[in-house]
Amino acid sequence: MNTGDDSNIVLLKNIVKIYPDGTLALRGVDLELRKGEIHGLLGENGAGKTTLMKILSGLIKPTRGEIYIKGKRISLRNPAHALSLGIGMVHQHLSLVPVFTVYENIVLGLKGAKPSKVEIEKLMNTTGLKVPLDSVTENLSLGVRQRAEILKMLVRNVDVLILDEPTTNLSPIETRELFKSLRNLKEQGKTIVLITHKIREVLEVTDRVTVLRKGRVVGSVETTKTNSRELAKLMVGREVIFEIEKSPRLPGEVAVEVEDLHVIGDTGVSAVRGVSFSVKYGEIFGIGGVEGNGQIELAEAIAGIRRILKGRIILGGRDITHASTKERYSMGLSYIPEDRRTGLAMDMSVAENSVLTRITYDKNLVNKAGFLRFNEILKYAGKLVKDFEIVVSALSSPARTLSGGNQQKLVVGRELSREPSVILAVQPTRGLDVGATEYIRKLLVKMRDEGKAVILISSDLDEAMSLSDRMAIMYEGRFTGIVDPRKVTEEEVGLMMGGYTIEEIKHGMSD
Ligand SMILES: Nc1ncnc2c1ncn2[C@@H]1O[C@H](COP(=O)(O)OP(=O)(O)O)[C@@H](O)[C@H]1O
Ligand SMILES: [Mg+2]
Repeated sequence: MNTGDDSNIVLLKNIVKIYPDGTLALRGVDLELRKGEIHGLLGENGAGKTTLMKILSGLIKPTRGEIYIKGKRISLRNPAHALSLGIGMVHQHLSLVPVFTVYENIVLGLKGAKPSKVEIEKLMNTTGLKVPLDSVTENLSLGVRQRAEILKMLVRNVDVLILDEPTTNLSPIETRELFKSLRNLKEQGKTIVLITHKIREVLEVTDRVTVLRKGRVVGSVETTKTNSRELAKLMVGREVIFEIEKSPRLPGEVAVEVEDLHVIGDTGVSAVRGVSFSVKYGEIFGIGGVEGNGQIELAEAIAGIRRILKGRIILGGRDITHASTKERYSMGLSYIPEDRRTGLAMDMSVAENSVLTRITYDKNLVNKAGFLRFNEILKYAGKLVKDFEIVVSALSSPARTLSGGNQQKLVVGRELSREPSVILAVQPTRGLDVGATEYIRKLLVKMRDEGKAVILISSDLDEAMSLSDRMAIMYEGRFTGIVDPRKVTEEEVGLMMGGYTIEEIKHGMSD
């Protein structure tokens, strides 16, 4: 790499980032961006893509490393500083002021003479980024708002435009239009960084691609010199897959059937777009994939906290598509949500939390007059704490005072000790230490061995692959395949995570 070469508009050298909580997000990353290229930054969740680009756009500071912009070593102070040097980033969560018009948002904060609407319209024509300038932003689709964010960067004359997972909330048509605009911008000499986990997008629109894995660059190549298989392998390739002792499965009857499920997400776009699968008693059915591909919405639909648009869910032979959470619960479904804060009442005691979902049906906990029997509750909580090795100072301490791992054990323990027939666990080990992680994984296997049906949603691929008897990969609201994790290669899993269906993979691919 040559820092003086003016074809390198940006050069990052040996960038290390340690977050204040100790997370080592980048372990010495080099990246070179050339003038007039579309550069793909590909990687799984947590690979460090966003962190790296936040550093380049001045939002966070690197712990170590050097940043060269147009050949000059720079220490970026903040995003405004980066913008003044021609670098702008459009974040995953859009940041326009909802009550302003599009025009007001585009020129917001500009110093000096603001471009007129006519000038912006000219820019819209040359780039293909069409937006209604006089409309109030909050009424517009995410696709339009994103175009406005890009225009906002362009009127600031950026040379390097960074887009973080820009197609997440776009329809296929909007995606195609966005890519067309990106090609136009490239023709005009702009450099574009496209952060994505979608291999198809990299192959479709980028000139070069850098693959990050666990905070390191594992490959940087010209897109025409690589292919989907190689990229998939680079993206997920791993040293050892977490091993857990597991006996062969002896699945029984069908416990859960999901038929052609469609669910709308919070932003109004369809998050689950026709998912079907069945899970048997005595089986762990894993659902993997990069986060944000509809897994959470699917879980919430099964748990009964998100409305189902179309399709059916059968639990133990009964149609529960429109049943309440409580009904599902009393039919034996246990739900371990991703966010333990939704599973616990943080200001209530450990004892109260341990019976939170049980109180509605366990007659033992309530006396004839309808009052809680605190002795019984304490007895129950004490057993839970002992059985699940939860570290607490007192049963009367608020749940908030527990460590993250112990909070999670409390939720998991409570949900599993009620002898459910079906367990729906979402990211059950996220953020836990090694000990607690292993404990919970073993517990899920134990439940399966006892004949319970387990649906495990996890974006930790090692976890999904080592625990699941069968595993689906979710991508843009659909399954790209349901496979036996022992019979697929990492390359095949990577391809499924990047948007290829198992049929396409098995029967030859088009690129
Ligand atoms: N503000 C933060 N504090 C602590 N850790 C963080 C923070 N932001 C990201 N991380 C961690 O840094 C790693 C890289 O994250 P990120 O850059 O968001 O990856 P990607 O964009 O590739 O999914 C992950 O382990 C993530 O959990
Ligand atoms: Mg990211």
